[in-house]
Amino acid sequence: MPKPEVVIRDKTFIVKITSNAIQSRISGLANEIETDYINKNPIIIGVLTGAAIFTCDVFRRLSMDCELTFIRVSSYSGTESTGKVTGVIGLKENIKNRHVLIFEDIVDSGETAVHLLKELQGHQPASLKLATALFKPAALKHRVEPDYVGFEVEPDFLVGYGLDYDGLGRNLNDIYVLKS
Ligand code: IMP
Ligand code: MG
Repeated sequence: MPKPEVVIRDKTFIVKITSNAIQSRISGLANEIETDYINKNPIIIGVLTGAAIFTCDVFRRLSMDCELTFIRVSSYSGTESTGKVTGVIGLKENIKNRHVLIFEDIVDSGETAVHLLKELQGHQPASLKLATALFKPAALKHRVEPDYVGFEVEPDFLVGYGLDYDGLGRNLNDIYVLKS
């Protein structure tokens, strides 16, 4: 059973999506992906750090041929609290003519996703799709539509299952929302 509440630094969070619910959705997503990519040997690209857990959870449920790698997005922080995305770091694989599936932890404003898709599209993959554990459609500021979504959520601040608050909370197995 998940803890109903957790305290991280100065904030209290309440449980929102249980580990059981997450794992059953992961299983469904893996089935969808397997159906869509069987015999295509896709390359799955997880975006560090937040998506590491989601990426591995789905990946280990796939029984077809598929490859796994990870990238980071670089950002500069200006006067705004959130850094603007400036590029992709760490892609060693040649993805030209490959079926590429990006794994994100969350699509919030869509800024990160838009930059990732644009940059990776420049490598001329055979196909390029986006999977995200969480999607906040009401927070979108860019035109992006994830192809695989774990859960659609309200535009509230979440932690757990890879998502952090000031570096902490990624190791929570359940997803929590900031208590208002
Ligand atoms: P974007 O606004 O869609 O570009 O999201 C940028 C990044 O903000 C995500 O990849 C997350 O790392 C982070 N983020 C967005 N929403 C949340 C949240 O609710 N909790 C923790 N991190 C978040
Ligand atoms: Mg992220």
